[in-house]
Amino acid sequence: MSSSRTQVAIVGAGPSGLLLGALLARAGIDAVVVEQRSADYVLGRIRAGVLEQVTVDLLDEAGVSERLHAEGLPHDGVNLSFDGVLHRIDLKALTDKHVVVYGQTEVTRDLMQARAAAGLKTVYEAQDVAVHGFDGAQPSVTYTVNGEAHTLHCDFIAGCDGYHGVCRASVPADALQTHEKVYPFGWLGILADVPPVAHELIYAHSERGFALCSMRSATRSRYYVQCSLDDHADRWSDDAFWAELARRLPPQVAAQLVTGPSIEKSIAPLRSFVTEPMRFGRLFLAGDAAHIVPPTGAKGLNLAAGDVGLLARALDEHYRGSNRGIDTYSQRCLQRVWKAERFSWWFTSLMHQFPETGSFGQRMQQAELAYLTSSQAASTALAENYVGLPLPL
Ligand code: FAD
Ligand code: PHB
Repeated sequence: MSSSRTQVAIVGAGPSGLLLGALLARAGIDAVVVEQRSADYVLGRIRAGVLEQVTVDLLDEAGVSERLHAEGLPHDGVNLSFDGVLHRIDLKALTDKHVVVYGQTEVTRDLMQARAAAGLKTVYEAQDVAVHGFDGAQPSVTYTVNGEAHTLHCDFIAGCDGYHGVCRASVPADALQTHEKVYPFGWLGILADVPPVAHELIYAHSERGFALCSMRSATRSRYYVQCSLDDHADRWSDDAFWAELARRLPPQVAAQLVTGPSIEKSIAPLRSFVTEPMRFGRLFLAGDAAHIVPPTGAKGLNLAAGDVGLLARALDEHYRGSNRGIDTYSQRCLQRVWKAERFSWWFTSLMHQFPETGSFGQRMQQAELAYLTSSQAASTALAENYVGLPLPL
């Protein structure tokens, strides 16, 4: 059994753990990241694609945004299609802000490379990760690598280990409250090296279900269709996917669709989930470990970045002599989290098919969209949430 010491032990090398590590390094705070998977496995997960300005600012602050600024695609607008009619929401005109399309995989790769270049320690393929003593003054993280057990002593533990991680699961059940909504469908997504069908994203409501046209670059597209929860990605041939996507888009858009072989195809269930509080003694939860949003609002990665932005500042203040930041961390995160939960739930409810709500539910969706497209106030509310709400500092 070997042991070592750091100031902050970060569990999980997803975007929240790696960004926290980068921000702490900038503040001169020592941290070790412990990840159960290999770096390649983490990079192989295809997930988010839209970054808010708050996230870009944090990546700037962490010094890892050079490639993002060179290759990311700034988008000033986003399109909704409802039963074949396209409507553009002008994000820039309504909010004076934009979003940047740059994949989570690339954010993660940039953070991993910067971490390796700075000689900061990341332990990959750590088995049996466990967290201890966070209700007292001497927390620690234990794990095994290549059969050797290790104890990492620390001042604080950052639980950045996602929805299925060990950190939230280690908190006594009576110390936390959870709120959850599971949606009765999933998203089937594919990635393909074909040019995107449009310059900006299209969120499409159709009789056959929701569809989303997104992208990673001028030559790589990401598309999704609403599917049933018991569906399997391997039941869908590429041709079947492209045909279904085309049926859900306005005809003039479908006519522009360039198809090709998929590089990745997977199904994600949709869920809303919040844990309260996000701090237990010397353990802080951040990102998906604390909350999940359905992907419709493109908020998951952005919320994760916001959490660790607040946590890095709070820990910096602690080492400078003030506990105000860590004492208010949970409450400040949750203010923003609940607003993003509301937006993601509302946008999901507007755009998907919910057969169980019947014709009344459909008419409510149509009326909501008619209001949205005819009222500048309603369009501004959508735009303001889509580009992201400010961090409560
Ligand atoms: P994660 O990315 O889940 O990272 C957690 C890390 O912890 C992982 O690397 C995991 O291997 C590691 N870990 C887990 N358990 C342990 C353990 N016991 N010990 C050590 N390490 C552990 N968000 C958007 O904004 N837009 C989108 O389009 C979008 N699409 C998505 C599609 C899918 C299929 C999924 C699953 C999510 C999507 N999200 C999207 C959400 C977004 O990807 C997440 O919010 C984001 O990954 C959160 O980052 P995180 O670092 O908190 O968690
Ligand atoms: C994506 O590009 O993967 C993406 C974009 C916007 C979303 C969800 C996913 O709302």
